[in-house]
Amino acid sequence: MKWDANKYTNNFSFVHKYGEEVLKLLEIKPNMRVLDLGCGNGELTKKISDLGVYAIGVDSSEELLSVAKEKHPTIAFMKQDATNLVLDEPVDAVFSNAVFHWIPETKQAQMLRHIFETIKVGGQFVFEFGGYRNNQLIHLALERSFRARNLKYRMPFYFPTIAQFATRLEEAGFEVREMSLFHRFTELKGEDGLSDWINMFIKMPFQGVDAELKKDIIFEAVEDLRSELYQDERWYADYVRIRGKAVR
Ligand code: BEZ
Repeated sequence: MKWDANKYTNNFSFVHKYGEEVLKLLEIKPNMRVLDLGCGNGELTKKISDLGVYAIGVDSSEELLSVAKEKHPTIAFMKQDATNLVLDEPVDAVFSNAVFHWIPETKQAQMLRHIFETIKVGGQFVFEFGGYRNNQLIHLALERSFRARNLKYRMPFYFPTIAQFATRLEEAGFEVREMSLFHRFTELKGEDGLSDWINMFIKMPFQGVDAELKKDIIFEAVEDLRSELYQDERWYADYVRIRGKAVR
């Protein structure tokens, strides 16, 4: 997927702001090496490095990696695909924020096996991403808008329950230490906050859809959602997070 790195950094900074809370799950030890998996623009990799550990950032997006390298030239960043992660040396911890929902369900087991192999025995795996029913109102409104035009909305994300993801972790060999699922109604920036969010993040269902038709579909979905997601002159997204910690 191609990212507009500037727009992402300017309009969706809440992604890494909220990620700072997830960092608190990491137990910091002297001389540890921590991998930020799906590091994006590197903002959280920098926060990890500020904890006094050796931080490494990996991402599959050249656009986001080039922003990360420019902003944080002293940190090691590398291009890697989360489902085929391979490092020269294992790390003490893998951290990942807002990434795993992008990985198709059919690739989750492979991804977790690679992460497991990347962590030293006893090392930590700390993560947060979209959980069960994440953005459900938004996806249902888009689905209605597609259906009204005889088009099929293909749900592009993986949003598991705690039980589903815990099972996957255990099957990969991890010991699950904690996990929670919680709703986080999240404010979006600007008068066009919701349509900007849809344009930024919902790409796959619109493949092959003409630009004008796409505009109509999004306009209709946004108006449909106004009564629920527009409050006090601000747009919100109905986020649900799954957050946890496991150990190899
Ligand atoms: C998220 O939960 O962070 C998310 C999910 C789908 C699209 C964009 C963001």
